Amino acid sequence: MNLRALLEQRLTAALANAGISGSPAMVRIAGKPEFGDYQANGVMGAAKRNQQNPRALAESCVANADVEGLATLSLAGPGFINIQLAPSWLSQALNNAPHPLTPVADPQTVVVDFSSPNLAKEMHVGHIRSTIIGDAIARTLEALGHKVIRQNHVGDWGTQFGMLITYLTEQQGAADEDNDNDKDEQLADIEEFYRAAKARFDADEAFADRSRQAVVDLQRGDAEIRGQWQRFINMSLDHCQATYDRLGTTLTRADVMPESAYNDDLPNIVQQLEEQGLIEESDGAKCVFLDEFKGKDGSRLPVIVQKSDGGYLYATTDLAALKYRCHSLKADRILVFTDARQVFHFRQFLAVGKLAGFSTAATSIEHMPFGAMLGTDGKPFKTRAGGVIRLNDLLDEAIARAAKQATDMGSLTEPKALAHAANVIGIGAVKYADLSKNRTSDYVFDWDAMLALDGNTAPYMQYAYARVQSLFRRAGISQEQAHALQVGELVDVSEQRLAVALLRLQEVSEQMAAEGMPHYLCTYLYELANLFMRFYENCPILKAPADVRDSRLALCAHMASVVQTGLNLLGIDTLEQM
Ligand code: ARG
Repeated sequence: MNLRALLEQRLTAALANAGISGSPAMVRIAGKPEFGDYQANGVMGAAKRNQQNPRALAESCVANADVEGLATLSLAGPGFINIQLAPSWLSQALNNAPHPLTPVADPQTVVVDFSSPNLAKEMHVGHIRSTIIGDAIARTLEALGHKVIRQNHVGDWGTQFGMLITYLTEQQGAADEDNDNDKDEQLADIEEFYRAAKARFDADEAFADRSRQAVVDLQRGDAEIRGQWQRFINMSLDHCQATYDRLGTTLTRADVMPESAYNDDLPNIVQQLEEQGLIEESDGAKCVFLDEFKGKDGSRLPVIVQKSDGGYLYATTDLAALKYRCHSLKADRILVFTDARQVFHFRQFLAVGKLAGFSTAATSIEHMPFGAMLGTDGKPFKTRAGGVIRLNDLLDEAIARAAKQATDMGSLTEPKALAHAANVIGIGAVKYADLSKNRTSDYVFDWDAMLALDGNTAPYMQYAYARVQSLFRRAGISQEQAHALQVGELVDVSEQRLAVALLRLQEVSEQMAAEGMPHYLCTYLYELANLFMRFYENCPILKAPADVRDSRLALCAHMASVVQTGLNLLGIDTLEQM
């Protein structure tokens, strides 16, 4: 149940009853909880637009709103309405909602393009944000009942592959002579492989020529070269998949929709643009110029769709992907998570795509850019030597640090349990740190901050969850048994505030999915955990009289379920003990 939407509907109806229809009540979470749980901010604007006295209009809304048993309303300031939910309604709502999330009434088909690394290189930290953020949004959309089509738009085409497969062939020859059967071993370190191939390419003219010829043969569809290329791609995808599995990302091989899948359609894309009179030639290249995209000097900036040598570009493939997603997949929404440096590329090719009819008004296309990952010195996140940080090394370090922390905490001693906890905490901390910041800003990667046990971090949330589990153990009941208990009368104000927060997961998740903003959920979970700690300090549980004790244990069960569900939407695991 979306609590905010329910209140919005009741108060908008009250406005309509007061003679003003089509004006939203604009219900938001209250700024000052001492005055209410939610507040309606829309009355003043509605009054102004209809030349009415805002206070009189607010009074009429308060008097007429259908909120019997749900909430009490009160007037505030020049025309705000404070909304205080009724404690009895809160108990009932919790008891009626065993699971904190329900599917939406109008599910959509949503294409989510995320991760999408280039396969010529090993995945590095530059791909982590797309992978983590995109996965959280895909999981959340799915949990809300939408049909999610994941598209891992990997870069598997282009000139680098000529060099890489030529080098691979050469290495294989050498390996055969050494009688080494385990040829795939050579790709254990793709980054190193790429460096070696590049060095060879730069140093040896004959090798460079063979590489260029390989690209031509590859594009012509030469069977042997194609086979080599496919082998390389498969190895590289295996690397990616291993990282996804380690990270707990929901991507599988079936979600890979590589750039090369659109190759056959690229001539059609250019032809369609030509037929519509959108192509202009510039230095032999086929370009689309739109008046809305101009450089600083006022000259028009092109979207190049075909180079003078006949080759196609990143944008051409993106136009083909756009067409496929809109017309074949019939997406209601397309979300693409990339680095903010691609904002202009997206604006440009999407404008061309719209003009050419590759997209239609039926599909909402939403580029979801994110900022750069910075080190604690505020500079781009690099190794000490200035190289790119490999994702696997980063995760190793996260787990090592978490292992030390878990050992210091001392409650886990059994090696297996400790190793498991280190994994869950370490990976969780890296993911949560990224997800909890506003996606659009640059973000500072800081080990100490992300592993802190207090603050808006994964370990803090995981600890809150483990704390509830330990309470259940002390009470001698399972979480399921606790969940079967009924929430009774909420006497303490800290119980009431906690109950409201527990009922908000739906609205927060819907908002997160609508805007592609995982930090909404993190902020909410953090506030929830703080409210829980206040409740925990103010309200005795195990020592309370039986009925109060049961009701409070039921609240704890809801807490566990909301935290677990919330972390799960973010792709983060929980621990029974920490
Ligand atoms: N492969 C690209 C990169 O690493 C990201 C692709 C994103 N998706 C897209 N449809 N352009 O930058």
